Amino acid sequence: MTKTAVYPGSFDPMTNGHLDIIKRAANNFDKVYVAILTNSSKTPKFSLEQRIDWLKRATADMPNVEIASFSGMLVNFANEVGANVIIKGLRAVSDFEYEFQMALTNRQLSPNVETMFLMTNGKYSYLSSSIVKEVAKYGGKLDGLVPDFMIEEIYREF
Ligand code: PNS
Repeated sequence: MTKTAVYPGSFDPMTNGHLDIIKRAANNFDKVYVAILTNSSKTPKFSLEQRIDWLKRATADMPNVEIASFSGMLVNFANEVGANVIIKGLRAVSDFEYEFQMALTNRQLSPNVETMFLMTNGKYSYLSSSIVKEVAKYGGKLDGLVPDFMIEEIYREF
């Protein structure tokens, strides 16, 4: 059986923490869909095209990773692409409550889709897309927070 996983998120923008989870998922699944939610209640800072482009460039050396976008329910997307696993990254206990609620809701909606959590790499436990935007807004250094090729392109948006 082909093991296919979906790693969903806003990726607004993608960070090195996301990339670490994508690499580790790609090492453990035959196929990984990185799925960007398009109808989030949050208004994204970066366009969908921009977010897709960054994810594609960052994962160009991972042949089993595909970048996709979806709207509506995550479990519907997972079923459409034949994925039976949702990958989520956990950074801290503060992530847990919301993720637990979403995992149980998704199981209720589609019991065939299992949520699996990967603990973040310790060096990225503080990192989030919001932190990247906050640092960029004040012209701070983004080195180590996102892939180098993204840095100038992020600054350009501020
Ligand atoms: O990067 P984010 O913004 O934390 O990602 C949140 C995301 C996209 C994983 C979450 O909002 C989601 O799965 N949305 C899809 C809607 C859905 O399926 N909701 C039911 C589960 S509560």
